[in-house]
Amino acid sequence: MNSYTDKVKAINEKRESPPLAHVHNYGCQLNVTDGEKLKGILLKMGYGFTEQPEEADLVIFNTCAVRENAEERVFGNLGFLKHYKEKNREMIICVSGCMTEQSVIVEKIKESYRYVDIVFGTNAFDRFPQFVYEVLNGRKHFYDEQGPGNRIPEGTEQVRSSTFRASVPVMYGCNNFCTYCIVPYVRGRERSREPEVILDEIRGLVNKGYREIMLLGQNVNSYGNDLGGKINFPELLRRINAIEGEFIVRFMSSHPKDAGKELIDAIVECDKLGNYLHLPVQSGSNSVLERMNRRYTAEQYLEIVDYARSRDENFTFSTDILIGFPDETEEEFKATLAITERVRYINIYSFIYSKRTGTKAAVMEDSTPYSEKQERMQRLLELQRNITTEDYKKYVGKTLEVLVEGTGRNGEGTLTGKSREFIIVNFEGDSSLIGKFVKVKITGARNWAVVGELVK
Ligand code: 5AD
Ligand code: SF4
Repeated sequence: MNSYTDKVKAINEKRESPPLAHVHNYGCQLNVTDGEKLKGILLKMGYGFTEQPEEADLVIFNTCAVRENAEERVFGNLGFLKHYKEKNREMIICVSGCMTEQSVIVEKIKESYRYVDIVFGTNAFDRFPQFVYEVLNGRKHFYDEQGPGNRIPEGTEQVRSSTFRASVPVMYGCNNFCTYCIVPYVRGRERSREPEVILDEIRGLVNKGYREIMLLGQNVNSYGNDLGGKINFPELLRRINAIEGEFIVRFMSSHPKDAGKELIDAIVECDKLGNYLHLPVQSGSNSVLERMNRRYTAEQYLEIVDYARSRDENFTFSTDILIGFPDETEEEFKATLAITERVRYINIYSFIYSKRTGTKAAVMEDSTPYSEKQERMQRLLELQRNITTEDYKKYVGKTLEVLVEGTGRNGEGTLTGKSREFIIVNFEGDSSLIGKFVKVKITGARNWAVVGELVK
């Protein structure tokens, strides 16, 4: 890798000013981490960065394949790049990430987006400098189609976008093959990073002043399954918790089929974790869960919730919900409303099912009209609004510990952050507090957040 990195750097150093790169990430946190790694590689090759694609010499669209609308946005934005490239003929356009792991997409780019220079997959980062070098030397296109592979990428320095919040992947890939999901096809099989490597990375981040460590994996509960039984995820959490320093730990996502008492115990017993869990339920209907190949029932899911609340009655949950899975009936959808009401999530991320070619669900009959799915989405969101409006009231009068994330919606002088329970907290304060832990006394509840006053 070094040699091509150095060769590109040498070319770039001959220019009057360093060339600029623009990296645009679509999709999940893991993709954002990949984007930060790509920036690390670009930096070594002598690139500076710009937020404006029109002034960039190299653009990377780091794509997501989970839903069709994300793919459509990529193709739409590629259209804009065509105009920029007409003005700057030297512009190198790259498409990376999950979309490029689907041959139908690569074919579409080859056919209809000839001005895209480099297409490379999630496992080709170490070869990226070579692709850039060859294109700089006149090669027309570079299409990498080696597939997601099974490697664990280590050793790439990241250009992190935040100075106080850091994502740390603990495992890559997914073995679950939920019938609607493209991820196992584009990210390959589950593989865990070595615990010592993870712990070292976190120690380094904490020493640099990072205050929130977000552990990432498609299913973090599978962590360690491929490491010969020497460690599992709850044990990893306990080891991370033992690292000295002032920081909080969050993680996503957990698969309910693998989340048990041991996980809840670790969360409750580790002081660096809030008593909060993001636990994607997807549906409250057992028949839908079965068609989704989720391998748990609503009752089993609720057992985890109840156990958590037996350990701490204020334990909070958030979730992902998929609406309109093929042939979801009104009755099945009502079961989703019922579980939402029963668990009383502090937040839900809901998505209308999007057909992904290659998955099992893509060939299932689906007679539910899209308008009905949209209507279901509205009903779910309204229920959730009522739940949070009601439940957030119980925080009024309490003091929450908040990591300040940035300026609030009302601009200068307002701040926003998240509590340990993962509730959005808005309050007034000086921007010098961004990136710090503060205490906020809650004075009011809204349907998406609570508001309060800084405790001095
Ligand atoms: N359509 C819509 N949403 C999906 N998700 C995964 N696959 C699809 C799909 N085909 C959602 C799931 C998952 C979240 C990350 O994205 O709810 O938990
Ligand atoms: Fe997709 Fe299911 Fe794997 Fe999550 S667990 S990435 S939803 S296949």
